[in-house]
Amino acid sequence: MKEEISKVRLSYGRAISKRNFLSRFYTLFMQSNPVVARKLAATDIVKQQELLSQAVNMVILFPQGNKIAKNAIKRIRESHNRDGLAIKPDYYQFWIDSLVVALAEHDPEFDAALEQAWRDVAKGAIAYIADGY
Ligand code: HEM
Repeated sequence: MKEEISKVRLSYGRAISKRNFLSRFYTLFMQSNPVVARKLAATDIVKQQELLSQAVNMVILFPQGNKIAKNAIKRIRESHNRDGLAIKPDYYQFWIDSLVVALAEHDPEFDAALEQAWRDVAKGAIAYIADGY
């Protein structure tokens, strides 16, 4: 897992340095499902992109047991639960699938092994957030 995490961190660094990466993720995410589009309809996308860029870092650091990441992911778990944003567990697949497509388009070194590394690394935080529903 340690090796996968460093590969994923480097991949994220390459993708995020491209200007349109985050907005492309949002477009893909909004188009992934009508419920996602509806939930995000009133969102301030610029503000949201900044929060998201930090949140992805937290998702990457989560499986190593990083304390700051654990707290950040716990807060997202609480804000997204049934009493908050009410994001049903089924919708997290659209989040990771959209992220993977945006990464594939923006990280020049993206390949099947890197996609698997991303999915493995993100799995823990996503399961933890979704389980809080
Ligand atoms: C691992 C996956 C996800 C992460 C890391 C994440 C992260 C975040 C963060 C950091 C925020 C900012 C506000 C807050 O901290 O609560 C946020 C807001 C939000 N998220 Fe997520 N999210 C994820 C998945 C999803 C999914 C699947 C949906 C489904 C539609 C969603 C819908 C929203 C909405 C509606 C907001 C509020 C936006 C606003 O303020 O207008 N999120 N998310």
